[in-house]
Parts: sequence; structure tokens; C-alpha cells
Amino acid sequence: MADTDSVKEAKNFYHDIPQKNEAFFLKGLNSYDFGMKNRMSKIFNPKSGHTVMLAIDHGYFQGPTTGLERIDINILPIIPYTDTLMLTRGILRSVIPPTYSNGIVMRASGGPSILKELSNEQIAVDIEDAIRMNVAAMAVQVFIGGEYESQSIHNLTRLVDAGIRYGIPTLAVTAVGKELNKDARYLRLACRICAELGATYVKTYYCTEGFETVTSSCPVPIVMAGGKKLPEKDALIMTYNAIDQGAAGVDMGRNIFQSDYPIAMISAVREIVHNGMKPDKALDLYNSLKKA
Ligand code: R5P
Repeated sequence: MADTDSVKEAKNFYHDIPQKNEAFFLKGLNSYDFGMKNRMSKIFNPKSGHTVMLAIDHGYFQGPTTGLERIDINILPIIPYTDTLMLTRGILRSVIPPTYSNGIVMRASGGPSILKELSNEQIAVDIEDAIRMNVAAMAVQVFIGGEYESQSIHNLTRLVDAGIRYGIPTLAVTAVGKELNKDARYLRLACRICAELGATYVKTYYCTEGFETVTSSCPVPIVMAGGKKLPEKDALIMTYNAIDQGAAGVDMGRNIFQSDYPIAMISAVREIVHNGMKPDKALDLYNSLKKA
């Protein structure tokens, strides 16, 4: 029998102080359960509300593309500067140290290589393996207007259903084929469809006209994909504009790992994303860090 003699009587119930009931810091996600919000808080910094994701999943259809030939040599030195890594389970298991404790976003769709029709993807990860690898989210490509549009949307909705079952968010990645314009009208359409069909957050490209209409018409957070390698100054301006126009962060690959100075570049991107640094100051930071 438990010894109850020394148990103190509880005295102060603070009955005059209502329990706090704070809204979750990311838009559109308040109705989710603890596990989903906890995982999103591993991707997005609750203080700034933003994230710097490093995308290194390109090999899933491109093979060892420039900058990703040796992830152990080229990428591991950069990962301390990331909030989140986006990658395949193959690279996660074979190269990434399990001591990496920030968010992991696992690429969960795939199939065709660059030699074939890219939109012909299938779900490429079992939810059990995503759980086993302790991921913060799963990512699926959605090809609005693509040849296999419906199939890619079906991949999204199946992953959303599996993810909700276990509290794992789904990142919908709006793919932009060569034949599709990346204008605001297209991006609004693609992002909104992904959100309507259950994506927890959406990754899309930046457009110079009307990007704020893309972010404002999407009811869940948007992160900006970097796209092809630009001069550092241009990539920093694009990052600033995307955040200023409502993006909740970046999921950037080539503009970081193909930079001559990836650590200097991701450090400058971080200052913009988390602290609102202006692009000219961020470029100064990049230039000073690359000399160090
Ligand atoms: C491409 O399909 C991959 O999902 C990449 O993660 C994505 O394109 C972002 O990388 P980048 O900034 O190089 O465009």
C-alpha cells in the first residue's frame, strides 16, 4: 500500500487564472493534433515562424547532380546551418548522422528518371518506414497540368491520409515542368489545390509578379524552392522578396550547395529568413564569410 502520510494537500489551484489556449504559430494548422504540430515545430522555428530547409533530394530523379556527387563530403559540413533537411530515405540511412536532431523531410514520391516522363510518379515510401526514420514530414511532388496530374494528386491524398493517421505532416511540392509557366496564376492554382486536398504545407517557386497572391490565397504555409543556380546576389534578393511577400521560409537546394561558398550562402539566407536582413546586407555578410 502506498504511503500517503506525507502527501501534502494541494492548496493553490489558481482558479482565477484561465488556462492559456494559444493558437499555433503556423497559419492554417490549428486544428491538428499534438504530434503534427510538434513535428512542424521541428521544421519551422517557433520564434521566427520561419524555416531554412536544405533540399538535397535531387538525386531521386537526377542521380549525382552537380554539388551532390559526394553528400558526405559536400553536404555534411553545411547541415549544422540548416533548420531541416529534405532528402531521400536512401541518403538519410546511408550518409546522414543520426545525431542530426533538426527536422527531416523525407522525399516520399518517385519513379521516373530525367530520361522519362517526370510526372509519372508513385508513392515511394511506406508510412512505417517514415515513422521508423523519425521524420518530421513526408514530401510528395504534385504535377498540376502535367501528364499524370491526377495520379500525382492521388499520391498526395494517400500520403495525407497515412500521415494524419500517425501525426506526420505532408509537404506538397508543386512541380513545374519545362512547358509550364511559373506565373502567379499557375502557382496560385497549384498551391491552392495542394492545400485544399490536405497538404500540411506547400513548396513552390517564386514568381516576380504577384507572389503575394500565391501566399495569401494558400491557407497553409508556403516555402519557396530555390530553382536553378543564380548569382548569389540575385538568389538573396529572391529570398528576401519571397519572405517579404508571405513565404514562411525556403526549401533551397542548388542556390546553396552549388554556391562556391555554401556555408557563407546559407548563413546569409538564414539572416534574411529569420531576422529580416535586407539583401544588400546579406550579400555583404556572404562576401565577408567567404573570405573567412
Ligand atoms: C526537385 O524536385 C526537388 O524536390 C528539390 O528539392 C527542389 O527542386 C528544391 O531544390 P532547388 O532549390 O535546387 O530547386
